[in-house]
Amino acid sequence: MTTPNRKSAITPALVAAIRERYQLDWHGIHGVSHWARVRVNGLRLAGRTGADSGVVELFAFLHDCCWLDDGYDRGHGWRAARFATSLLGTHIFLPDRQFDLLLQACGGHTGGDGHPSVTVQTCWDADRLDLGRVGIVPDPLRLYTDAARERRMIEWAYRRSLGNCSRTGAGSRSLTGLTQSAMQP
Ligand SMILES: [Fe+2]
Repeated sequence: MTTPNRKSAITPALVAAIRERYQLDWHGIHGVSHWARVRVNGLRLAGRTGADSGVVELFAFLHDCCWLDDGYDRGHGWRAARFATSLLGTHIFLPDRQFDLLLQACGGHTGGDGHPSVTVQTCWDADRLDLGRVGIVPDPLRLYTDAARERRMIEWAYRRSLGNCSRTGAGSRSLTGLTQSAMQP
């Protein structure tokens, strides 16, 4: 369940490990700006769905970190799950049950066959709500949770997805290369 005022699961050390692993443009369509928006989408949804917010945050920063190119790479999700496993206990700290959900969310996020866990559903919706970055308006019929299907939520996320929050805005940049404001709702 979502824990108010908890510390973020996204630590500088984790981001550094992901950045070392990521092979594409850090600011490209599958890169850190997308992950930051998915995190914000997911945390907003988690407040409604009751999803585990730690899993949602980690999914946001891991699910696309193992793409090999910006074209067609169906293996990237399960590759991300294996990468997450390599970080367990050093950069990722989750109980077994939540970690298993993280693996399923990363591994299955391109399949779209559904999942019984509301945490996994929330992760996948958070990702799909950011499709505006590649010119696609999210389709409510392809979202899993009632909270994500709400017109107001889709419109809010779509507007955010059209901006490239990594290259706009003032203020100091963090390790992610994002302004602090990009990590905020
Ligand atoms: Fe994604």
